[in-house]
Order: sequence, then structure tokens, then C-alpha cells
Amino acid sequence: MHISLEGQVAVVTGASSGIGAGVARGLAEAGAAVVLNYNSQPEPAEKLAAEIKAKGGRAIAVGADVSKEADVEKLFDAALKAFGFIDILIANSGLQKDAPAMEMTLADWNKVIEVNLTGQFLCARAALRIFDKQGIRQGVSRAAGKIIHMSSVHQVIPWAGHVNYAASKGGIDLLMRTLAQETGEKRIRINSIAPGAIRTAINTKATTGDAEKNLLKLIPYGRVGEVEDVANAAVFLASDASDYIVGATLFIDGGMSLYPEFRNNG
Ligand code: BGC
Repeated sequence: MHISLEGQVAVVTGASSGIGAGVARGLAEAGAAVVLNYNSQPEPAEKLAAEIKAKGGRAIAVGADVSKEADVEKLFDAALKAFGFIDILIANSGLQKDAPAMEMTLADWNKVIEVNLTGQFLCARAALRIFDKQGIRQGVSRAAGKIIHMSSVHQVIPWAGHVNYAASKGGIDLLMRTLAQETGEKRIRINSIAPGAIRTAINTKATTGDAEKNLLKLIPYGRVGEVEDVANAAVFLASDASDYIVGATLFIDGGMSLYPEFRNNG
């Protein structure tokens, strides 16, 4: 199986750090031009764009808050202006604002839903409009466009103390599958990735020292995930190697979603 994204253009939201940055690197290594969206941190996104260009790739960094309709329009306009087409959207931006439900403020509930769920809808809608206009780009891809939603194992695993986050990820599942059902006949492919515990800044506390030992009890495969594990899946789902995969969620979690507590007979 030969995977190449040569000649394709990908928009990656939340690309200044963590999974977003790792996925953007992976797509660029596979040959795609990448639009690196950031919200508050231009420097790391600019740095990543420079790194990709230094290796002969094509990249630009664009600031936009994915929860704001006008910003999303600007992001996609900038992408089209720079590269002429858009073939892949990685709707990745997401954040956590954790608190026990009884103490959670409405502001923290709203913020997480706005970025994690509404932001993914706004970006998907913008990408779909462009894919619909472009149609299939012969010789570039068998699909008229691909969207990959970044979900989480918490689209199925309830998570005490994170009700806003879990609700946003559960929402992404039906957002993704409904969009996939609605647009499949246009040959647009939409899927999700549901990462487990990945070694990124969001997880620094959970992946060091004793906390890591406890975390590993929840991971049958016995290691914390790396951003490359997620990037490899994203490259596959963005490529024609997955051309018949529509409306699926790929769990990249070392088995975290397999109810590991039941390993010893419950
Ligand atoms: C969260 C991480 C967490 C992982 C597994 C992810 O969606 O962002 O903080 O470690 O799920 O619980």
C-alpha cells in the first residue's frame, strides 16, 4: 500500500501544539500542503510552518478562533488564496475546562462546547461548501474531499469531572456520522479519530511519575500514545488507502476503550 497526499491541501485546526501539530507534520511528510491554524499562539505555528518549508514542503500559519463564524470564513479564504484548493480538513481544535458538575460554571460549559463541538461544525461546513464546488479533482484523490474530526475515547467513556468535554466529544460522534450520511453521495468522506491518552501538553500531569503508572492500568497495550500514532491514522484516513471508509471512528487508544477494568473477570 503506497500512501501519498502529493498535490493535496490540508487545513489543520489547532495546529500550534499537541496532536494538531503532530498530524500537520505527518500530512506534510506525506506530501500535502498544510494550513496550520492557531488561535492564541502564532509563534509555534509559524515555527512549524518554517520547519515544513525547510524540508521542501508547503505550509502557512493562519490565526482564527474556530468558534467564531467570521474567523472560520477567513481561515478557509486564506487557505484557498494560498494554495487554490482544499482537499482535507482535520477538525482538531479542542480544549478542556474541568470541574465537578456541581461546580462547573456556565461559562466553562459554553466555552468547551463552542470550541470542541460548534468549532468542528463551523469548520466542517466551510470545508463542505468548498468540496461541493470543487468536486473530484481527477488524478489527485478518488474523493471530493475528506474531513477527519478529532474526537476522543470520551465519546464513549463517561468522564467524571469533565462533563462539558465528554458531552462535546459525544456530540462529535453524531455530528460526524450525520455529516457523513448527508454528504456521502457527493463522494465526500467524513470520519473521526478517537485518541486515548497521548503524550502532549494537555496530559503532562497524567503522563509523569506515579500518575503515569495509574494511567497505564487503563491501557491494555501498556504504553502512553505518541502524536505519531495519531498522525499515522490521520494520514491513512486522508488518503485513498481508506477510500471505502465513511462515517467510521478509528480508536487510537492502546485499548483504553475496551473496559480494561474487566481484564481480571470484573
Ligand atoms: C483527553 C486526555 C485524556 C484522554 C484519556 C483525551 O481526550 O484530552 O486528557 O488523557 O482523553 O482519558
